[in-house]
Amino acid sequence: MSWIGGKKSSRDIIIPKFPLYYEKYIEVFGGGGWILFAKPPGNDFEVFNDFNSNISNLYTCVRDHSAELIERLRFVLNSREDFDRIKHIISEKAEIGDVQRAAEFYQLIRYSYASGCDSFGGKPHSMWSNFPLIEQASRRLQKVIIENRDFEKLISAQDSEVSFFYCDPPYYATESYYENVGFTKADHERLRNALAGISGKFLVSYNDCEEIRSLYDGCRMFSYERLNNIRQRFDGGSMFGELLISNYDMDERKKNPPKQISLLPPMKFSVFTEFLQQKKSLQVQMRCCSHLSLPALNCLVYVVRYTIKEFGLLTAVEAAELTDHAAADADRHIWRDIAVSVRYICVLAVKHNLHGC
Ligand SMILES: C[S@@+](CC[C@H](N)C(=O)[O-])C[C@H]1O[C@@H](n2cnc3c(N)ncnc32)[C@H](O)[C@@H]1O
Repeated sequence: MSWIGGKKSSRDIIIPKFPLYYEKYIEVFGGGGWILFAKPPGNDFEVFNDFNSNISNLYTCVRDHSAELIERLRFVLNSREDFDRIKHIISEKAEIGDVQRAAEFYQLIRYSYASGCDSFGGKPHSMWSNFPLIEQASRRLQKVIIENRDFEKLISAQDSEVSFFYCDPPYYATESYYENVGFTKADHERLRNALAGISGKFLVSYNDCEEIRSLYDGCRMFSYERLNNIRQRFDGGSMFGELLISNYDMDERKKNPPKQISLLPPMKFSVFTEFLQQKKSLQVQMRCCSHLSLPALNCLVYVVRYTIKEFGLLTAVEAAELTDHAAADADRHIWRDIAVSVRYICVLAVKHNLHGC
């Protein structure tokens, strides 16, 4: 879901910097959830938190009442009058029930300028086009714990040696962009202190600036640039400096590529496509996994075939949908686990040009 400061354009840089091993994933400043939704679900215990109660309520309703939420959004109008009415309802904290509140807040995000929830965007938008996304998000959130706590309390409650905290706080000097949460400059230091003594691992996203570099002096840092979306209209090609800060080696994953299942011998992508064309049927290739039974093979074939068909367009959410179909064809949960592993491999493979997969 689009959100101010959302990590849509950075998710493919951030996720490969995650630690190799953790059992608890805690997204401390959840917002639009771009990292959680792009992160492959595994066996880890996942927590999504945001101190903005409208966000946590929206995701709770998406998880637990998606059909009712969709029904409440079915006949809404994209109009300035409705936008102003909804804005008033949300700011006055009117007693309208959780699902109706979630529906109103969702409209505010979808119909506002730059998802700022503040001014009417005035752009055409089909609410119905969001329904499949709500259903997918609901499936993805089924086992996720949703919290609405201040970061300091959350970090201390969830800390353990196997916890991994991904933190995407309001950026330095943009604290006022987030209403309802009262984040101030002093909170940057409070966050640093909350992370300083933890037993688990942390990864923090920030704007690359002197103040933050000196606050986290002594930690590991990785800087990169992305297009500055806000400036594109009047300053084409303008870039924005981002900083990742951690208390562990961010190259752990690069140094230890996953080795769980090898579908094919290591080869470059061009060789791989030629190989597939020659053989015509991927099913033939799958027979090499002879230790797997037929439903598992079908499951693998299904996911891999469609990954390749959609090559280059496959996002984690789309892959998850394919996996769900594949798992629905199979009759036991183990096939779902296999499909999840394959989906993970496929997404990595597509992203890394199938090197070594
Ligand atoms: C930069 S946004 C996160 C964007 C998110 N990573 C994404 O990709 O959409 C920062 C979020 O921190 C939340 N926030 C602000 N103060 C907070 C606090 N004290 N504790 C927890 N969350 C807070 C805001 O409501 C906002 O949604």
